[in-house]
Amino acid sequence: MAGANQKGIVNIDTIDGHQKEGLPKELRDELDKLEKQFTVTTEKLKEITKRFQEELEEGLKENGKNIAMFVTWVLGFPTGEEKGSFLTVDLGGTNLRVCWITLNGKTKDKEHDIVVKQDSYTMPGELKTGNASDLWSFIAQSLQKFIEKENLTATPNEPLPLGFTFSYPAIQDYIDQGVLQTWTKGFDIENVEGNDVASQLRSAISDFNLSIEIVAVINDTTGAMIASAYNDPDTIVGAIFGTGCNAAYMDKISNIPKLKGKEQIQNLSPDTPMAINCEYGAFDNARKVLPITRYDENIDADSPRPGEQAFEKLSAGLYLGEIFRLIILDMHDRNLFLKDQDITKLKEPYSIDTAFLSSLEDDSTDSLTQSSETFKSDFNLTFTEPELNFSRLLAHLIAIRGARLCACGVAAISRLTKTTTGHVAADGSVANKHPRFKKRWGQALGEILDWSGEDINKAVDETGAPIVITSAEDGSGVGAAVIAAMTLERWRKGHDAGIKGDGFEKVSGR
Ligand code: BGC
Repeated sequence: MAGANQKGIVNIDTIDGHQKEGLPKELRDELDKLEKQFTVTTEKLKEITKRFQEELEEGLKENGKNIAMFVTWVLGFPTGEEKGSFLTVDLGGTNLRVCWITLNGKTKDKEHDIVVKQDSYTMPGELKTGNASDLWSFIAQSLQKFIEKENLTATPNEPLPLGFTFSYPAIQDYIDQGVLQTWTKGFDIENVEGNDVASQLRSAISDFNLSIEIVAVINDTTGAMIASAYNDPDTIVGAIFGTGCNAAYMDKISNIPKLKGKEQIQNLSPDTPMAINCEYGAFDNARKVLPITRYDENIDADSPRPGEQAFEKLSAGLYLGEIFRLIILDMHDRNLFLKDQDITKLKEPYSIDTAFLSSLEDDSTDSLTQSSETFKSDFNLTFTEPELNFSRLLAHLIAIRGARLCACGVAAISRLTKTTTGHVAADGSVANKHPRFKKRWGQALGEILDWSGEDINKAVDETGAPIVITSAEDGSGVGAAVIAAMTLERWRKGHDAGIKGDGFEKVSGR
C-alpha cells in the first residue's frame, strides 16, 4: 500500500520506491518535518472520529450547533417507481448545470429508463463574490435559455416543476425553502446569507416571466444519496469529496430530538425516515482535535469566512492544491526551493488545483517530465529533479492526510447509525479524479472501525470491503428530479409534512 502502513504511519520511503533516498539533505530534513505534521495515525483518526460522532449527536439535538445536521424533508428512500418530467438546476462553483429529466419509473426488465437533456452555463468568476441580484438573474436567465433551446412549453397555469440543488448550508423548515446560513467554498455573495434562497430565486424567475415552480431545494449530498438509492438499495450515505466535503444519510425522526414538538411532524410516525444533510465540513471549528498546521491556519485566515469549515479546509479539493502552494512558497522564502527563480505566478492564490496534485502523484514519466512541463507552462518555473521528487512526495502527504481525514466523517455516521455494511455513494472531483483516494479512504475507514486485516486489504485492493465507496449516480440531476417527484407525490396524497407547497396545485395535478 502506497503511503501509509496499517497503523496509519506514513512511510514515505515506500511511496513509489526510492525518492526520499535521493533527496539532498536540506530537502530531506524538510520533508521529515512535514511528514510529522501531515501524518494522521490510527490513534488520531479514532480520536477525531469520537469527537466527530459527538458533534453529529449534538447537531441532532439542537439547532445552531457546530455540525448543523439539517433535516431535509426527504422522507425515505425512493421506490424506483417515481415518474414525471422535471427541470433541475445546480449551482456549482464554475458552472450552472440545467437539466430536463424524464423519469419513467421501472421499465419491464426492471431497468430504469431515464432521459436527461442538459446544458451548462459558465458562471462569470466575479459572480462568486458579487451581489445576490446578479446571481439570481444569471440563474433565471440560464433557465430561460435552456427552456427556449429545448422548446419546453410552460404556461402560468402549467408551470414546469423545478428541483434546485443548492450545495451550501441551508436550514430547511420546509423542502421547498432553505435559508442560507453561511457561504462556503470561497463564495461570498452579498445579501443571501440569512435569506430563503428559494424565494430569492422565485422572484428572479418571476422577473424573467418564466413559468417555473420550485418544488424542492436539495443539497448535493442528499441528491447523490437519493439518485444512487433509486438504483442501489445498499446505499447508506451520499457523500461529496470535491471542492467541498459533506455527507447525507437517513435517520428515523425519533432519533432527531430537535424535531420534537414541531408542527410539521405531528402526523408522522416516529419511525419515519428523514434524510439529514450533515454539513460536516464545519466539524471541529473549535479546533480541538484536527491536526492543523500553520499552512492550514494561513488558508483559513485568508478565506472569506475565517474560523468556519475547519474540517473542509483540511480535506476538500479546493484547498489541497493551496496547501501545496503555500508550503512551496514558504520553502522558497527560506531559500530552500526554486532558488533565484521568478515565482510571480506561483504567488497567485489557488493557482494550483487538485487535478494538478493528482497528476503529480501519478506522474509515471521518466524524471517526472510531465509535471516538470506543467510547472514550466503554467508557472514559468524550472524545477530541479530533487525539487520534482520532493513535490511528488509532498503531494502524497497532503492527499493522504485529506483522504484519511475524510474517512472520519463516514466512520462517525456509521457509528452513530450502527451501520456496518453498505455503499457510500460518492461524487466530487477528489473521489472521481483521484485514483488513489478510494484506497486510502477505505484503509483509514478500516483502521477506525477495527476491520480485520483481510477487510482492510479488500479496501486497499477495492475488492469489496464491508463499507465501500460507489460512484454516485447523477445527484444534482436525477437526484433532484427524483426528490421533486417524491415531494409532489406526497403532496398529491396529502402527506405534506415539511412541504409549504404554495403554488403546487399547478404542478401536482392535485
Ligand atoms: C457545503 C455543503 C456541500 C459540500 C459539497 C460544502 O462546502 O457547505 O453544502 O454539500 O460543500 O459540495
